[in-house]
Amino acid sequence: VRIFNGCSLKKTATNTVFSHGVAASRLMFVGDAPGDEEDRSGVPFSGPSGQLLDKMLSFIGLNRDTNFYITNCLFWRPPGNRQPSADELEICRPLVEKHIALVNPTMLVLVGGTATSTLLNDTRGITRLRGQVFSYQNTYMAEAVSVHVIYHPSYLLRQPLAKKQAWADLLALKQALSAA
Ligand code: URA
Repeated sequence: VRIFNGCSLKKTATNTVFSHGVAASRLMFVGDAPGDEEDRSGVPFSGPSGQLLDKMLSFIGLNRDTNFYITNCLFWRPPGNRQPSADELEICRPLVEKHIALVNPTMLVLVGGTATSTLLNDTRGITRLRGQVFSYQNTYMAEAVSVHVIYHPSYLLRQPLAKKQAWADLLALKQALSAA
């Protein structure tokens, strides 16, 4: 990823933001794109939304130092934190697909609508897709993996009432993990 020059976002970014956490864990989270703090630190989900995500995940026993791995669909911050374009997501998609195949998780969690529509190729909104379990496989993977979809923490920061549904989704994730 660091030597890949096919995505123009790299030119304006300070850092390549690749991943964080334990690559050998069963659980892999994929968000959309780095924001300001991630661009500065080079660490995905290190800003305010990442802090909320970490806090929520800690309540179900998940911690990036011990049992999960996290990355994004884009490895460079879109200028001004704008929405990633369809082209940018398409250009980086093979890298993300290979990344998922190499990590080979038992369970994949897509964080927010952009990661969900990009990887599940499903145009229904996150409100329709959360709370369900999907299956995901790409050309690099030998087997399909089960997928949970959760609200993006930046949405929860704007819409705190949605935290109730987010909490139900995390409990479902916890249950699925203990059954896996
Ligand atoms: N939002 C994301 O989707 N990823 C990050 O790394 C930060 C914010």
